Amino acid sequence: MNRSQPQFQRLFLMFLVSLFFHFHTSYSDVGNAALYSPPYSPTACYGSDASQFPSSNLFAAAGDGIWNDGAACGRLYLVRCITSTSTPYTCNQNQTIQIKIVGYIGGAPFAHSTYKATMVLSNTAFGTIANSSTGSSYISIEFEQ
Ligand SMILES: *[C@@H]1O[C@H](CO)[C@@H](O)[C@H](O)[C@H]1NC(C)=O
Ligand SMILES: *[C@@H]1O[C@H](CO)[C@@H](O)[C@H](O)[C@H]1NC(C)=O
Repeated sequence: MNRSQPQFQRLFLMFLVSLFFHFHTSYSDVGNAALYSPPYSPTACYGSDASQFPSSNLFAAAGDGIWNDGAACGRLYLVRCITSTSTPYTCNQNQTIQIKIVGYIGGAPFAHSTYKATMVLSNTAFGTIANSSTGSSYISIEFEQ
């Protein structure tokens, strides 16, 4: 009994750790996204390389929350617009897009001081998930890598 107790504690700890990672990876985060218009190049990630932009034109620049010192470059995120009761019409319904991070909000050409956004989305990306007739250029989003 005395010998098996540390082993049990170790197993229990491993169980807790795996539980943490399970929940950590399967739930998405909530943040804000702003609209950013061209020019998009050169970016903080890939400079003027034209092949950095996916043909879907679904891309974004990362804010400080997800930039990770540049490690965010090339990451793909699933992004969805979410409404609140005070802003019921800001989203196009049921649209989830996959965007690629190509730049940094704090660096040219995205240099952006007005918004505390999680990311700024390309015209195409923003227009796909946000209701353009509300004229809003700032939305709440749910996102996951
Ligand atoms: C978009 O916004 C307009 C009002 O600005 C609203 O009438 C319309 O229902 C909205 N569309 C969606 C999908 O919420
Ligand atoms: C969105 O998805 C829900 C549930 O899947 C569905 O009931 C609803 O009709 C969809 N709305 C649109 C506008 O596609």
